[in-house]
Amino acid sequence: MASESEHTVLVTGGAGYIGAHTAKALRERGHNPVVFDNLSSGYRDAVRWGDFIHGDIRDTEAVAEALARTQARHIIHFAGLIEVGRSVSRPDLFWAHNVTGLASVLQAAAKAQVQRVVFSSSAAVYGQAAAGFELDLLSEDNPKAPASPYGDTKLAGEKMIAAYASAFGFSAVALRYFNAAGADPSGLIGEAHQPETHLIPLAIAAALGHGKPLTVFGTDFPTPDGTCLRDYVHVDDLAAAHVAAVELPLAPSAFEAFNIGAGHGASVFEVLAAIEAACGRAPPHSLGARRAGDPASLVADPARANRRLGWTPRCSDLDHIIRTAVAWHKAPAYGATSPQPAGILS
Ligand code: UFG
Repeated sequence: MASESEHTVLVTGGAGYIGAHTAKALRERGHNPVVFDNLSSGYRDAVRWGDFIHGDIRDTEAVAEALARTQARHIIHFAGLIEVGRSVSRPDLFWAHNVTGLASVLQAAAKAQVQRVVFSSSAAVYGQAAAGFELDLLSEDNPKAPASPYGDTKLAGEKMIAAYASAFGFSAVALRYFNAAGADPSGLIGEAHQPETHLIPLAIAAALGHGKPLTVFGTDFPTPDGTCLRDYVHVDDLAAAHVAAVELPLAPSAFEAFNIGAGHGASVFEVLAAIEAACGRAPPHSLGARRAGDPASLVADPARANRRLGWTPRCSDLDHIIRTAVAWHKAPAYGATSPQPAGILS
């Protein structure tokens, strides 16, 4: 049994990218992570820092049983679908996993008298509202106007959690991630999405000759070099934010949301240059049209996370992000040869 300051934490989706890094960070802080995952997109080999329960979040009984068996009073909820483009063609899946699935977890949490729920939210809750604030840092108070069904489900999820927390007496934290990137320097865990749609892994695969040449989506944005600015935050920094969110003193029924980003942007061309420096070869690429729905700039103001969570990015320097990502993609511990079903991501 953990002492009062060491928590047993049910980590839904803990076999996925950010979940696996968070399980490691929890264990390193003396907590007891228990991963709950249906392995529809996560990897069993990513679960190395805690027990594993094979289960689906939409099965409320299974979540309730996991909470009863482990006596977990804290939940970090990662499980869900993440691919923005696919959310446009399959909103049914996104609402079923990200909203109905969340309701199932919260129902089990309320019955089990869970004390704290931490939720994977996203900068996607701001969506095109960011367009009115080009090149400014986004604070939590910026208007919320998701530009995709994915963003809609994250905003709905935040509202659902706030309402459940208020009614059932647990406290909750939503972390709005900007662009998660990089890999743990141990080489044991890293990014392995199937299919992969993100800039950094695609550009590294192109540079290493494992993947197709990259298309740069748009060079006519109102940014210094014409390509989009994004706030790349190292996955180990994201993991540390989750640990801080579990440990944050909060009154029962309270809900708070935080932006988790490095607080500075990098352009697509800057990312390609960093990959060239790390690989010794420029990622082969062509210049293409803008991708629908891409805002010019999405950069976090992480001041509130700093103030309330005591969180500061420690390893989100772009060169470090790229070096750790390149090391992982040169020798991934899992995920390279066993494609998962497209779009079902935990
Ligand atoms: N990009 C390219 N070519 C590619 C892929 C991406 O030029 O082949 C560009 C995009 O246009 C964008 C930047 O690289 O400017 C980053 O794109 P990613 O797809 O890596 O990431 P996004 O910023 O689109 O998405 C991230 C998260 C989502 C989240 C979103 C919030 O991955 O989960 O931020 O807006 F919803």
